[in-house]
Amino acid sequence: MKVLFVCLGNICRSPMAEGVFGHLLRQEGLDDRVEIDSAGTHAYHVDEPPDARAQAALSQRGIDISTLRGRKVTPVDIETFDYVLAMDCENLKNLQAICPPGATSKIRLFMEYASNRPEREVPDPYFGGSGGFDQVFDLIEGAASGLLADIRARYHLTT
Ligand code: 4NP
Repeated sequence: MKVLFVCLGNICRSPMAEGVFGHLLRQEGLDDRVEIDSAGTHAYHVDEPPDARAQAALSQRGIDISTLRGRKVTPVDIETFDYVLAMDCENLKNLQAICPPGATSKIRLFMEYASNRPEREVPDPYFGGSGGFDQVFDLIEGAASGLLADIRARYHLTT
């Protein structure tokens, strides 16, 4: 099964989500069962590595995302992936606008899986300071564990 994380530029939030969720999958021994990727709704940063502040926020926590590269999301992605998870409502709207018929239910806000938090969106940290990236990390961490629980239940993964 396949999970795609989507933000605007694919250099801050979605590669962080990919890194954090990948780390969780490895810890749980599920990285061979769940495939992950990330993409952006816009092409501003195609082929670029994650923002230095995003890399720093994760390397502090032992997670290396330096080899990831930006890419733009496509309608085929939405057909191919089982979960297409938007970081904010604008990403959600942009994904719905390119969604092939019948696939809309795959597109969700990532924060729907953070049942312990009131926030609905992972806010864009690009124009703020490095503190925004710590906040992004906390939001992603909460949603990542809820997402894993959802995947385990839906696909009967017991490992
Ligand atoms: P991201 O952050 O969507 O979390 O990757 C952004 C990165 C770049 C821009 C905006 C948001 N930008 O306008 O270039």
